[in-house]
Amino acid sequence: MDCIVPSIGATSASNFWTPPMIGSRFSAAAKTYDRHARPQLALAQSVVSMLPEIYPEQILELGAGTGQLTRLLVDRFPDVPIDALDLAEKMIEHSRAKFHHLPQINWIIDDAQTYWSGDRYPLIASSSALHWVSDLRATCENIFQNLAPGGTFALGMMLQGTLKELHELRKTIAPEKTPSLTLPTYEETQVCLQDSGFHLDRKKHSEEEIIYPDAQTFLRAIHEQGVTGGKVSTGNAPLTRTELSQLVADYQDTYATDGGVRATYETATFLLMKT
Ligand SMILES: C[S@@+](CC[C@H](N)C(=O)[O-])C[C@H]1O[C@@H](n2cnc3c(N)ncnc32)[C@H](O)[C@@H]1O
Repeated sequence: MDCIVPSIGATSASNFWTPPMIGSRFSAAAKTYDRHARPQLALAQSVVSMLPEIYPEQILELGAGTGQLTRLLVDRFPDVPIDALDLAEKMIEHSRAKFHHLPQINWIIDDAQTYWSGDRYPLIASSSALHWVSDLRATCENIFQNLAPGGTFALGMMLQGTLKELHELRKTIAPEKTPSLTLPTYEETQVCLQDSGFHLDRKKHSEEEIIYPDAQTFLRAIHEQGVTGGKVSTGNAPLTRTELSQLVADYQDTYATDGGVRATYETATFLLMKT
């Protein structure tokens, strides 16, 4: 338990986290992410299922990580070249090795907030990644620039209600360490997208509870997804060992349900066009 710092709110979508810090926290989770990323896989599936009947010549994926969405894109569009981009060097190394048999994927280390290849892509996709950017509006504007006229942008986002039980409990246990910044809301995300010039074609907003066997397993799982940060969280008001033990015990009591403890994930899927 030592390395678990349940400070998700403090570390998500906040200006406190620079791209290198986000890269390094996800690099640390490269080997363990897939084991625990059920909610992220469900969101990636929702992104692909929302795509219309298109067959693009090239795809850009933003925040590809261990390639959960990339794999689904390959299944849907065999042989289409994919530029799969991520900030985290080790995520890219891991995915490059894992998908070495799929030469159509070009793995790129770069920042989705500023990436510009000089190409305009007919399809851009991203899942469970853009809620990490420090400036969602600027990122949406950059994606709009990278999209070809008539192109499609398919986006899956984690939103503010994600892990709300953990945030609530943190506020009670260590109010002075309460994160001031949080994940974007559904409304904020939609406004950023529309202000950037996208036409909103379809959207889906959902809140889902995932059941974990117990509180300790839950905290371990979110840590191994890269949601809480090992080394990079130090200095960001980490909980003490006592506070952490209290958090585990209180989570177990407060959020117990049939089969374990519950945790909420609020997500949205958007299908957008550049007209
Ligand atoms: C939770 S993982 C999701 C990975 C994958 N898309 C999935 O659906 O499982 C988030 C990924 O986004 C990457 N990321 C965060 N901010 C980024 C940015 N500004 N540019 C590129 N990648 C970013 C992280 O490094 C991490 O690998």
